[in-house]
Amino acid sequence: MPTAIVTGATGILGREIVSSLGKDPKWTRIYALSRSQKDEYPATVQHAHIDLTSSAQEIARQLEGQNVEGEYLFFTAYLAKDSEKEASDVNGAMLQNFLSALTLTGASKNLKRVLLTTGAKQYGVHLGPVKCPMQEDDPWIEGKGRPPNFYYTQQRILHSAAEKEGWEWVVTYPNDVIGVARGNFMNLSTSLGIYASVSKELNNGELEFPGSETFYNMFDCFTYSRLHAAFNLWAALEPGCRNQAFNVVNGDAETWANLWPKVARRFGCKVPARQFERETPDASEMKLAEVPPFEDLAAVNGMKGKIPQGKVSQRIDLVRWSQKKEVKDAWAKIAEREGVEKGALEKATWGFLGFVLGREYNIVISMSKARKFGWTGYVDTWESFEETFDELEKEKVIPKAK
Ligand SMILES: NC(=O)c1ccc[n+]([C@@H]2O[C@H](COP(=O)([O-])OP(=O)(O)OC[C@H]3O[C@@H](n4cnc5c(N)ncnc54)[C@H](OP(=O)(O)O)[C@@H]3O)[C@@H](O)[C@H]2O)c1
Repeated sequence: MPTAIVTGATGILGREIVSSLGKDPKWTRIYALSRSQKDEYPATVQHAHIDLTSSAQEIARQLEGQNVEGEYLFFTAYLAKDSEKEASDVNGAMLQNFLSALTLTGASKNLKRVLLTTGAKQYGVHLGPVKCPMQEDDPWIEGKGRPPNFYYTQQRILHSAAEKEGWEWVVTYPNDVIGVARGNFMNLSTSLGIYASVSKELNNGELEFPGSETFYNMFDCFTYSRLHAAFNLWAALEPGCRNQAFNVVNGDAETWANLWPKVARRFGCKVPARQFERETPDASEMKLAEVPPFEDLAAVNGMKGKIPQGKVSQRIDLVRWSQKKEVKDAWAKIAEREGVEKGALEKATWGFLGFVLGREYNIVISMSKARKFGWTGYVDTWESFEETFDELEKEKVIPKAK
């Protein structure tokens, strides 16, 4: 009967892994690790407080005090930082120090497989246009002129520790995660729900798309946090997945042209028929890396010099929108009336949502590799949004739409 350790247990991805392990009777003991505890757990799950920014020795002391050990480690802890260099240093150190701490306590002897959650930044989606579909054997976007990528740092640490300690590894690459978490760094559903609720209050039920008109008809691939958790549980025990990295997205490709009217309907709003002809006094534009990631592969594809620099265009800049007095007042009114959290507007991740809606290039991620290895999971992206909005309503993060 397998046992598990999950770091990042309160995060948007870790929380669902803990919940799925806790519901599966096969998993007899689960240690859920984070600094805070935000959920109640079933009897098989034990929460342990840990600060991964501590030294390996200090983490070992924290683990020993709470008897933490397991055969499968799901590492989903994450700390956002302002620069790529800092993100790489801090997130690399958190993984390295945790693995070293398991060696110090002796718990690494019980480890069979370590599953590391990273993401589609693997392909440079944060830097500009990428080759589509993205595939796991695409070359890493690094070297001269490229910023450090903390996923590469973490994967190198993982590979070298695995070789030294003798356990196996799996890495996942999710993208634009749909799910529930409180106070995390990247949460597009909560921000979207708040944007729709405030728009309904302020704009006579009109829901204007705040992102880019160009991107409205381009493709994105999303990851439902529950599907990602199911993938993790499957890949942990599937012998063939040893020492492999996998894209983990829902299995469909979506456009906001298709999703936006559904979001509007869900929140009792209507999309203005000529929304893209409206004035845009609060628009913003941000250029991405001068040399787009696709350019690194372009010569092989016969497209050298043909890939445009990426940009993020928002018709309504969401960070600025969230700071407007009328928006703050409307949310305060909603919070008071509906009993939802007043601070949710300020805590929501507006920069992240603006990026997700404003990128002007396709994000298409291949699931072929996972399918060839036997993965059959799939979820409809709109259904993932609906389930997530329902849960956010139930948890009183966003107001009831109906
Ligand atoms: N969210 C997305 O849309 C998305 C998309 C693609 C890829 N990813 C990737 O998925 C991975 C997980 O991210 P996420 O979005 O799930 O993160 P998240 O929701 O922000 O959660 C981060 C988790 O890490 C824990 N943590 C942070 N600092 C810690 C510390 N010093 N000690 C112990 N625990 C700590 C947090 O708990 P406490 O604060 O309680 O300690 C929390 O449980 C990251 O690599 C991220 O880049 C995320």
